[in-house]
Amino acid sequence: MDKKQELENLNNKWREECECELKKTATQAVPGVGNEDAEIVFIGEAPGKKEDEMGEPFVGAAGKFLNEMLGLINLERNDVYITNIVKYRPPNNRDPLPEEKSACRTWLLKELKIISPKLIIFLGRHAMNNFFPDLQISGAHGKLLIKPFKDMSTKYFFPLYHPAAALYDGSMREVLMEDFKKIPKVLKEIDKRQA
Ligand code: URA
Repeated sequence: MDKKQELENLNNKWREECECELKKTATQAVPGVGNEDAEIVFIGEAPGKKEDEMGEPFVGAAGKFLNEMLGLINLERNDVYITNIVKYRPPNNRDPLPEEKSACRTWLLKELKIISPKLIIFLGRHAMNNFFPDLQISGAHGKLLIKPFKDMSTKYFFPLYHPAAALYDGSMREVLMEDFKKIPKVLKEIDKRQA
């Protein structure tokens, strides 16, 4: 079975089986999207209003900014894979609760296992703290983290500020764009370490 089919089967199964309470209030599940052979997977927090309507991650204002930043390093959405730790929109865009994050965690881990990217990029602290609970985004952003996890194909992670947080904050926007521009170097660094 090819990866596309595997992902489709996974999403169909988890749409049924996920026990996330947010299912009751969300319009629909918002599974990951993009290139299943991507070297890079971006992980955000949870769908917002627009994503809930469209059934696709990062299609609102934060997503437009993400597309813009991909352009900075000559990538398009179709070159990468984009997903969220929580697959259903929290009401009024509140932060996802710990039990909502853990309800969707197996879905995310299985998604990552199918894609097997070289690098996982966290968009914001929620995504980062899902894997590195003790780190602060203010200190960890823009730095390559190397840590093996059971059942994960990659041990390389790169945390960034969330694009929504940086949208209307000029200095954070600048930091996020500078961190984003480091991605090609980070990929080369991983190649060197794996050679
Ligand atoms: N913010 C996120 O974290 N994810 C989305 O899909 C959209 C906005």
